[in-house]
Amino acid sequence: MSGPLLKVEDLRVTYRAGRRAVEAVRGVSFAVARGRCLGVVGESGSGKSSLARAILGLEEDVSGRVEFDGQAVLALDRAGRLAFRRRAQMVFQDPLGSLNPRRKAGAALAEVLRVHGLAATRAEAAAQAADWLETVGLDAAYADRFPHEFSGGQRQRVNLARALCVGAEFLVADEPVSALDVSVQAQILNLLKALQEKRGITWMLIGHDLAVMRHMADEVIVMKAGEVVERGPAEGVLACPAHPYTRELLAAAPNVGRALDRRAAGAAV
Ligand SMILES: Nc1ncnc2c1ncn2[C@@H]1O[C@H](COP(=O)(O)OP(=O)(O)O)[C@@H](O)[C@H]1O
Ligand SMILES: [Mg+2]
Repeated sequence: MSGPLLKVEDLRVTYRAGRRAVEAVRGVSFAVARGRCLGVVGESGSGKSSLARAILGLEEDVSGRVEFDGQAVLALDRAGRLAFRRRAQMVFQDPLGSLNPRRKAGAALAEVLRVHGLAATRAEAAAQAADWLETVGLDAAYADRFPHEFSGGQRQRVNLARALCVGAEFLVADEPVSALDVSVQAQILNLLKALQEKRGITWMLIGHDLAVMRHMADEVIVMKAGEVVERGPAEGVLACPAHPYTRELLAAAPNVGRALDRRAAGAAV
């Protein structure tokens, strides 16, 4: 099917506490084409996570329109929402916080597969779980490990496997490498890029490092105080940002982008 996979129009997210209301997202519109990566950048508090959660139906007070594969997401009934949540998954910053500490990686994946009716037997679920671990670059034998027995980067891989195993076509990665060592960040980002290329995954990458975005994203939107202040092809926005706020973000970019630069240079030789 042609047309963007995700289309967001005039999205607004409000948080209310008593008589106070904070409008965290103020009329954001964009589209993400199939198989592409949209980067969402902006300083802390600019509304990136609120935007992400609203798109996935995890926020209460939302207005505007979210269209996924031609369907209006905000108006879906329970069954429709369940189907949507299988196709659209979130990957969070803290992989330890989103994994059950008492469940081995293989069992966690197998459970998800069984719950969604994707494996008929335990043995089938275990075999699929092992395949997914290999898909994200882990040894199948790691199925027997508990979350605390993995490194941070490995845990994020398990998280990715869990998101993908239900058949996700769209991933929202909210600062997926911010909690990881710099040396590991590039590995996880490259895995995401490979999944985009090999499996046609469409995704939204949320982060504050514009140098990383240049490598990962096709298009970027720059958020400030709940609004999009700049948008365009990642290369263009980064080569010559039009907005002074984007220039500030660019100047503050840490060194992961440079690590990726070195990798890219190495690969080209
Ligand atoms: N659950 C919440 N209740 C009240 N205010 C919130 C909540 N979550 C976020 N906010 C506020 O909304 C704004 C945007 O936050 P957030 O979407 O988390 O930004 P970012 O992800 O860019 O750091 C901030 O002012 C934040 O304080
Ligand atoms: Mg956030």
